[in-house]
Amino acid sequence: MSTVRGRKIVVGVTGGVAAYKAAELVRLLGKAGAEVHVVLSEGGARFVTAVTFQALSGNPVWTDLWDARMPNNMAHINLGRDADAILVAPATADFIARLAHGMADDLLSTLCLARDVPLIVAPAMNRQMWEAPPTRRNVEAIRADGVTVFGPAAGEQACGEVGMGRMLEAEELLEQLEGFFVPKRLAGRKVVMTAGPTFEAIDPVRGITNISSGKMGYALARACAQAGAEVVLVSGAVALPVPAGVQRVLATSALQMRTAVLEALPGADVFIGVAAVADYRPLETAEHKLKKSGDTLTLTLTPNPDILAEVAARPDAPFCVGFAAESRDLDAYAEGKRRNKRLPMLVGNLVSDGMGGDDNTVIVYDDAGRHPLPRAAKAEVAQGIVEHLAGLLAAAGR
Ligand code: C5P
Repeated sequence: MSTVRGRKIVVGVTGGVAAYKAAELVRLLGKAGAEVHVVLSEGGARFVTAVTFQALSGNPVWTDLWDARMPNNMAHINLGRDADAILVAPATADFIARLAHGMADDLLSTLCLARDVPLIVAPAMNRQMWEAPPTRRNVEAIRADGVTVFGPAAGEQACGEVGMGRMLEAEELLEQLEGFFVPKRLAGRKVVMTAGPTFEAIDPVRGITNISSGKMGYALARACAQAGAEVVLVSGAVALPVPAGVQRVLATSALQMRTAVLEALPGADVFIGVAAVADYRPLETAEHKLKKSGDTLTLTLTPNPDILAEVAARPDAPFCVGFAAESRDLDAYAEGKRRNKRLPMLVGNLVSDGMGGDDNTVIVYDDAGRHPLPRAAKAEVAQGIVEHLAGLLAAAGR
C-alpha cells in the first residue's frame, strides 16, 4: 500500500514548462489514494489550466488569494491546515527566491508562509538559472529553513540546453514523496546489497546464468533508502531503473560481484545478499567464439565464492541477511542455509510464489523462528522485510 494513501497533499504549480508533468503527478497521486488539492500560481495557470487540474484531482483548484469560495475567505490558511504536505512542482527560480525571503504576495507563497506542515519543492529551471549564485543561495536558505528539495535532475531541457535543472518525472516525484512518509528506521545506517543474476562467460557471446528479474532486490534497495539508509546496490545485469537515493554498482560475474561488494563493505552496518549468484563458472573462458561441431562439448565448471558466507564469516561482519528461493521444502532448506552461513536473518520464498512476478509471499527466518509476511506487491513485502530488519538491529543493540 502506498504511503500517500489517505493523505491530503496540496500540490502547488508555478509557472514553468514542467507544469505539464504536474498534471500527471496529480493523476498518479490520486491513483495512489491521496486526496489532492491544487494551488496554481498565475504563471502556472498560463501553462496548464485549472480545468485540467480540477478534472484530474476531482477537487476545486485554487489560484486567488481573494477567492470567495472559502467561507471565511482564508484559502491561504484553510488549504494547508489539515494537509500532510505541500509539494510545489514545478518550483521556478522566482518562486524559490520568494520562498527564501518570506514573500507572501499570492495564494501559494502565502500558503507556504502560513503553514505548519512539511513543504517540499521540486525545482524546474534552465541550467544557468539553477547554477546562478542567487539561486544557489536561495536553495541553501530554504533547505536551512527545513524545506525538502526533490531533484532536480540533469538532462535535456525545454530551452534546448543540456544540464542540471530538469524537474523530476511524475513517477520519480511520487516515489520520493512515498519515501518521504516512510519512518526513517534505518537512518544513519549503511546497507550494502546484491541483486539480480550473475553471468559466467563461456566465450564472448555465451554464458551460464540464473533466472532473476532483480525486482525483489531493487524493491528492497528502494525500501532501505526510503527508510533513511545509505544504500550501495551491487547489481547483475537487469533492466530496472535505479531507485532514488541508491548508489548502484554494476557487476556481471560472481567474481566481479564479490570484488564490488568487498569494495563497498567498509563502514557497512548491514549486508543483504539477494542476488542469484551462479554456483559455478566455466574454469576457462574462451577468448574467441566457440565453433559448432558435431561432437559433444564438455565444459569444466569450478565453484564460485559464496559472497554472503564470506562476508558473514568476517570478524567485523555487518548484520547479514540472506535470501533463499526454493522449489520445495522451504522451511528446511531456508533454515539450513541460515545456519550454515551463520546469518541472523534469512528471507525465504518458494520459486512458484515470487520469481519474475510483481508479487511475492515470503517467510522471514531468525533466531526466534519463522515469521510469514502476507502476500503482497514486492514493494510492500520489501517494507515488511525492512521493518523486521530494523527491529532485529535495534534488539541486537547495533
Ligand atoms: O545459492 P543459495 O541458495 O545458497 O543462496 C542463498 C543466499 O546466499 C542468497 O542470499 C544469495 O544471494 C547468497 N549467495 C551468495 N554467493 C553465492 C551464492 C549465494 O552471496 N555464491
